[in-house]
Amino acid sequence: MNDTATTAVRVSGLTKRFGTGEAAVLALRGIDLEVRTGELLMLVGPSGCGKTTLISVLAGIMDKTEGALDVLGVDPGALKVDDRTRWRGANIGFVFQAFNLMPALTAAENVSIPLLIRNVPQAEALRRARAMLERVELANRVDALPAQLSGGQQQRVAIARALVHEPQLVVCDEPTSALDQETGHHVMDILHGMTRGSRRTLIVVTHDARIFGFADRIARMDDGRVVAVETGAGNTH
Ligand SMILES: Nc1ncnc2c1ncn2[C@@H]1O[C@H](COP(=O)(O)OP(=O)(O)OP(=O)(O)O)[C@@H](O)[C@H]1O
Ligand SMILES: [Mg+2]
Repeated sequence: MNDTATTAVRVSGLTKRFGTGEAAVLALRGIDLEVRTGELLMLVGPSGCGKTTLISVLAGIMDKTEGALDVLGVDPGALKVDDRTRWRGANIGFVFQAFNLMPALTAAENVSIPLLIRNVPQAEALRRARAMLERVELANRVDALPAQLSGGQQQRVAIARALVHEPQLVVCDEPTSALDQETGHHVMDILHGMTRGSRRTLIVVTHDARIFGFADRIARMDDGRVVAVETGAGNTH
């Protein structure tokens, strides 16, 4: 078992195979990685190298094939389905690349979902959702539907939703890829500000060299493996 005081995630020999036989794809080929509690780790590498697969396994969204996995003191794959859903609801915030907002719900209703899942009463959930939207500078858009928001605003709603239940581990898949430089920087500023100084750990998958400066460390992946881990500029902030 992990010492979560210093290490949020510890992975060794992690593999993930999709499909069987001739059609099998080995998306993760033996990942070894440690993510420290409270750090911002960026995960970079060419398209198809396994970044989304890795964070999906870490977040308990996908099962691993082999290897040792310890995320906040547990192996999510070893939990029963109900326990895993509860564990994820309590501990993980996930920002999907495509935002995944519910189109028929307002910004505030979207952000309240993780709280409703945790049985927070609706009025309280909406109050906290609005407060979180205020922190991402969307106080005036809480009642807007996703289709009425710009890409950068939708991305900030997705971030608010990932953080509203105060998860210990926040995982973001390409959070700035759809954004222009200024908005992308702003979104990272918000993410960074909301996690800095806390014990919240942040893993950000990105192709976007413009935001590397926010990273404490940068893990480079290639063909299903982590091939290098470098210290980023985030350490000197
Ligand atoms: N559900 C799936 N079934 C079969 N193969 C898959 C599945 N999901 C991903 N793969 C394959 O696994 C490999 C890793 O995919 P993954 O989505 O993790 O890459 P990525 O690094 O996130 O790429 P990108 O930067 O393009 O998002 C790819 O070869 C992909 O085709
Ligand atoms: Mg991906």
